[in-house]
Amino acid sequence: MAKQTQSNFACVYLVLFFFLRASSISVSARVAPLLQTYEKSIFTSNFHSIYDTSKYGILQLNNGLARTPQMGWNSWNFFACDINETVIKETADALVSTGLADLGYVYVNIDDCWSAATRNSEGQLVPDPNTFPSGIKALADYVHKRGLKLGIYSDAGTFTCQVRPGSLFHEVDDADTFASWDVDYLKYDNCYNLGIPPKKRYPPMRDALNASGRSIFYSLCEWGVDYPALWAGKVGNSWRTTEDIYDSWFSMTTIADLNDKWAAYAGPGGWNDPDMLEVGNGGMTFQEYRSHFSIWALMKAPMIIGSDLRNLSEETYLIYSNKDVIAVNQDSLGVQGRKVQVSGKDGCRQVWAGPLSGNRLVVALWNRCSQVSTITASWNVLGLQSGTQVSIRDLWQHKVIAGDAVSSFSAQVDVHDCNMYIFSPLIVSHSEE
Ligand SMILES: *[C@@H]1O[C@H](CO)[C@@H](O)[C@H](O)[C@H]1NC(C)=O
Ligand SMILES: *[C@@H]1O[C@H](CO)[C@@H](O)[C@H](O)[C@H]1NC(C)=O
Ligand SMILES: *[C@@H]1O[C@H](CO)[C@@H](O)[C@H](O)[C@H]1NC(C)=O
Repeated sequence: MAKQTQSNFACVYLVLFFFLRASSISVSARVAPLLQTYEKSIFTSNFHSIYDTSKYGILQLNNGLARTPQMGWNSWNFFACDINETVIKETADALVSTGLADLGYVYVNIDDCWSAATRNSEGQLVPDPNTFPSGIKALADYVHKRGLKLGIYSDAGTFTCQVRPGSLFHEVDDADTFASWDVDYLKYDNCYNLGIPPKKRYPPMRDALNASGRSIFYSLCEWGVDYPALWAGKVGNSWRTTEDIYDSWFSMTTIADLNDKWAAYAGPGGWNDPDMLEVGNGGMTFQEYRSHFSIWALMKAPMIIGSDLRNLSEETYLIYSNKDVIAVNQDSLGVQGRKVQVSGKDGCRQVWAGPLSGNRLVVALWNRCSQVSTITASWNVLGLQSGTQVSIRDLWQHKVIAGDAVSSFSAQVDVHDCNMYIFSPLIVSHSEE
């Protein structure tokens, strides 16, 4: 009986072996995708210095959250202070009905202006009775029923930026209040901070959230003061690296460059945050928004939609719903991609790249020039051996555009647009040589 089983297995293996051989040959003669990490035959010896991750603290805060960058929506960029429970509910409904929730956008985050101007007689935060009459717990129930998560906002100061009560010196009370409302996420701002350094003001809320016993994503928003990448890995699940984004090409490109510096510090559990997405808010062209979305995804930035989801244009939806680009952001390797080469006037022809799981690379050709440009990514700049054959998938055209590129790849890129690709190296199978 045992013998019989063994020979059956042998037979299955043999069939499988020929099947695999046959299928790999039919894809591309004598090549098969590599599985091992940073294989020397594919990558150059300086691969690890191009994509340095030496400052990443393993799993960072390690509260079980942020294993990939957070995705969702936040009220601020479009609505600012003009919010109420109806808008939040309609947005939750829109996340579901548009299919964006299924693509990973699950956090529904209320920004400033949800709370009343003063605490109650017990010193607790209370929702604004005019705009959130049903309370935050009811909203949390509403979004949870739809498979989503609720985020809230407070401030590591005496007031929020819109002069509602802040949580400084009320960390334990407020964390317990948020937990009692079943909140899943806290964005913690930096106004009215009494000049106390962020390093002193942000850890108490981390400890209070932890002590509340509820799993709450902790998003630091201290505008990059005192370079949080250097210390916030053990404090928050993400940390803003810059001041607020505005809906303009100038703001977006400036912030991308500032955030790029801290790439070596990001990883599962804790991410650099270049602020929320402005895609769809009207201040940039379609090409510029596509760049914004592509580069944020490549940088492993939080993907927090900042537009009105109840009224999405087709173009805006096309950008936010790009599964190929989202997959780059959510890749399990969790290494922040970065700017690897610039050329042309003021360095406006740019190559950005990063490692992905399965020995793949994401490569973006970003044209920041004011005319159509041809941009070239050469293998040595990407950290690839020049003889490495690469299959190239275009993430905006959603198709493979080259099966066996070697040594370099060039493409013409529209003004302020960004082409984005996955490079999958192939290796010659030595057994067949
Ligand atoms: C809620 O806020 C939205 C967006 O600002 C606004 O259009 C709507 O009139 C408000 N609804 C109520 C009942 O205040
Ligand atoms: C609290 O912190 C510990 C240690 O990092 C962690 O294991 C635990 O999951 C945290 N609990 C919550 C509720 O965040
Ligand atoms: C919906 O968006 C369009 C632009 O895409 C805008 O012109 C229109 O005013 C918006 N409608 C509402 C109700 O906000």
